[in-house]
Amino acid sequence: MALSSVFFISILISYYSVKSYGEELNTKKFPKDFMFGAATASYQVEGAWNEDGKGENNWDHITHLVPSPILNNDTGDIACDSYHKYKEDVSLLKELGVDFYRFSLSWSRILPSGFDNEVNQLGVEYYRNLIKELRAHNITPVVTIFHWDLPQTIQDLGGLQNDFFIDRYVDFARVCFREFGEEVKYWITFNEPSSICYLGYGRGWLMGLASSPGIGEYLCDHNLLRAHAKAWRMYDDEFRKSQNGVVGISISGDWIEPSTDSSADLEASETLLQFTFGLYIHPIVHGDYPEVVRTNVDKRSVLQGFSQSRLPRFTQEEVQLIRGTSDFIGINMYTTSLVTPRGSDNISDISFEADTGVTSWKPEEWENSGSSWLKVYPKGARQLLKWLGSNYKGVKLIITENGYSDNNGTLEDDKRISYYQRYLSNIRDAMEFDGVDLFGYTAWSLLDNFEWISGYSQKFGLYQVDFNSPNRTRTAKKSAKWYSKLTRTKCIVDDCTE
Ligand SMILES: *[C@@H]1O[C@H](CO)[C@@H](O)[C@H](O)[C@H]1NC(C)=O
Ligand SMILES: *[C@@H]1O[C@H](CO)[C@@H](O)[C@H](O)[C@H]1NC(C)=O
Ligand SMILES: *[C@@H]1O[C@H](CO)[C@@H](O)[C@H](O)[C@H]1NC(C)=O
Ligand SMILES: *[C@@H]1O[C@H](CO)[C@@H](O)[C@H](O)[C@H]1NC(C)=O
Repeated sequence: MALSSVFFISILISYYSVKSYGEELNTKKFPKDFMFGAATASYQVEGAWNEDGKGENNWDHITHLVPSPILNNDTGDIACDSYHKYKEDVSLLKELGVDFYRFSLSWSRILPSGFDNEVNQLGVEYYRNLIKELRAHNITPVVTIFHWDLPQTIQDLGGLQNDFFIDRYVDFARVCFREFGEEVKYWITFNEPSSICYLGYGRGWLMGLASSPGIGEYLCDHNLLRAHAKAWRMYDDEFRKSQNGVVGISISGDWIEPSTDSSADLEASETLLQFTFGLYIHPIVHGDYPEVVRTNVDKRSVLQGFSQSRLPRFTQEEVQLIRGTSDFIGINMYTTSLVTPRGSDNISDISFEADTGVTSWKPEEWENSGSSWLKVYPKGARQLLKWLGSNYKGVKLIITENGYSDNNGTLEDDKRISYYQRYLSNIRDAMEFDGVDLFGYTAWSLLDNFEWISGYSQKFGLYQVDFNSPNRTRTAKKSAKWYSKLTRTKCIVDDCTE
């Protein structure tokens, strides 16, 4: 009681002290049924890496290597200790007033061997308890089945590059639907295919450390799309009738802004958008890869002497399997890049970048965050939604991640508030003026957490976490107070209009 009145007083204070940030902000309320949420992912927050029967995953493996490839030798062994502190996390979500919490399941916590021969009941229990706690507080669980932590047994066999992955993923998804589907009505099969496949198997940053540029990412894409589709159909066949939920996927990428208004730059923008978003959404909506992706990779593969394209082909049966397998598309959006065509094609360059035929960059002068890849460009949010809305008509969209990092976790995070406010203004504009069918928005992240190869150096949380304290003490930042006002008023300014 005392705590919550202090909290509401501080909301009032921030209500009067957070000014608008000098741009024209959309003052219109979001629709009544628009959902606001916050997100995390299992490896980034849970800790308890070897407790209660959990198996080893690729991140446990990478972070324990000596020398470590992770900044400052950081690991997620304890992370935010959410495995033990999930009730506190739910109380923070309650304080934020969010409609939903997006979190992910640790595959190796549920299936320690990676396979479905043994289900770890203690692991299942953890997620049951978390889901129960959320529902007791009227917060809807939105569950990501795969957010980058893969059992090491499966990674050792090539991970997503090996097509045996497809049925192993479907086995795992079936266990998830069976164990949690009574209570979970929103499912996301994969978080950020392009991070998994391009950064993972193309660049060797995310899944394991080996990389096969220009080959590994396409094998991964091909298996991931088929695994997604098979899991969606399996839900449809075995669970939808009794559980009545929806299953989607979260696609990430920059808005790609033409660097000039020349037709060559406009075309370069369209091409890179197809290689970023179309690569996944086009098959899911229409059954096959976008034409420009097919053409570019096929053409360069021939010139490079391959007898088969580096981009595998779907059979007619697979086209039927994949077409129409998403109840919604989640979008993770953070930033924008400029683009122009490559001057000339170096045909001996076997890589995804060379296949796109374009060069992209982020201008120095754009506003920085705590992450080199994340430059602040609010207008890109509206442009991207508009592009998605007009390319994939009738597809329901939800923003499954958006957020801002700094490097010090400051509680006085006005820059984060400004980012959220300006991005949400552009998102509201896209709904109001461009007719984009968007039903929700997710702040990344609830907590400062383990930011993959950057360790704990990049902080995206609405709540600060003290990683030096064994308690992993959570403290609300100014942005948490701002966000809690947004979830209550459905509006980003003080003077809302209906
Ligand atoms: C990381 O670990 C290596 C030993 O593997 C050690 O030499 C190095 O000083 C450590 N770096 C930090 C920042 O702790
Ligand atoms: C062409 O690509 C190959 C392979 O990536 C590289 O070794 C070579 O330096 C590149 N040539 C030029 C002119 O950039
Ligand atoms: C923390 O970083 C931000 C940049 O994101 C900076 O504006 C602020 O001054 C820093 N605060 C402290 C206490 O170092
Ligand atoms: C951790 O939490 C316990 C129980 O709330 C408290 O007694 C202790 O002082 C805390 N320790 C630190 C280092 O904050």
